[in-house]
Amino acid sequence: MKIAVTGATGVLGQEAVAALIAAGHEVTGVTRRERGIPVIEGRGARAVVADVFDQKELTRTFRGHDVVVNTLAHVPIGMAAMRPLSWREDDRLHLEASVAIAKAAAEAGAGRLIQESTIFLYPDNGSEWIGEDEPLSVRNQAFKPRVKEMRAAVDFATSGRTAVILRLGQLFGRDPQTTHALKAVREGDPILLGKPENYVTLLHHRDAGQAFVSALRARSGFYNVGGEPITRSRWAKDLAAEAGAGKPAKFYTELAQAVVGTRLDVQRRSLRVSSVRFMSETGWRPLTGPSTPGWSRM
Ligand SMILES: NC(=O)c1ccc[n+]([C@@H]2O[C@H](COP(=O)([O-])OP(=O)(O)OC[C@H]3O[C@@H](n4cnc5c(N)ncnc54)[C@H](OP(=O)(O)O)[C@@H]3O)[C@@H](O)[C@H]2O)c1
Repeated sequence: MKIAVTGATGVLGQEAVAALIAAGHEVTGVTRRERGIPVIEGRGARAVVADVFDQKELTRTFRGHDVVVNTLAHVPIGMAAMRPLSWREDDRLHLEASVAIAKAAAEAGAGRLIQESTIFLYPDNGSEWIGEDEPLSVRNQAFKPRVKEMRAAVDFATSGRTAVILRLGQLFGRDPQTTHALKAVREGDPILLGKPENYVTLLHHRDAGQAFVSALRARSGFYNVGGEPITRSRWAKDLAAEAGAGKPAKFYTELAQAVVGTRLDVQRRSLRVSSVRFMSETGWRPLTGPSTPGWSRM
């Protein structure tokens, strides 16, 4: 198939491009700048420079493609995420670029849109499992961009088109966010939010890349994509083992956690998310877990 990927130079985008190429597809990676070209070509795809906020330019870029995969994001790293302004770019990407991408994909005649989304929109559900039918906890204005992005993908799925919305688990691997966490663990600084008994649903980047390939087989709908959920105390030990640190990763104090703000507050939620729907629909399976040695170098 001919597949266009937006955000192709990013953590998720690079994995998606590499996995789609390995699966035998013809891939066009979209970047806003010339310096993104070698990154995309290095993964075996054709690179195109385009403005992801410009619907007309996107329509021209997507013409002739069967599928559009949108992996755009700009998540601030570490405690920078406490500052609401640090989310401005991420918000704009979901609020405006994702909408332009969905509309352009339809105009260009693509039959399928695969849209990255996140499990962090679910409410805290303690030790109970969370499936796709669980109502989202998105009343706060901070979640408006993600809701608008979802609506745009749903709108795409009219007139026989297919929209697959992947609610990805918390990413881990060799990305900046996890690298920051491993450094904090080595230095004995707190890094974890929530409570030790809370659940976390993780997703290795490689498995995320494969999920975009598997999503080519899925019917329209929302799908959770993550590994077997584990408790945060287990994750604290896994982080320490990978960091080569003697002691488990530390939690922020209750007082510090009380002032993290809406954006980081989602990381305090206990999210025991089931990906059974995606697995049975597509056959996708996570291959790398947080106790797989060397996961931060893969
Ligand atoms: N579910 C999760 O847990 C989750 C989800 C997403 C990200 N993250 C984490 O967050 C960290 C950062 O990753 P990320 O995906 O946010 O960022 P990223 O990988 O640095 O960025 C993704 C791509 O989006 C494009 N982009 C970013 N800002 C843009 C803008 N203002 N205008 C146009 N294009 C823009 C860039 O492409 P060009 O510069 O080539 O145009 C960039 O390569 C990583 O550690 C990642 O693992 C976690």
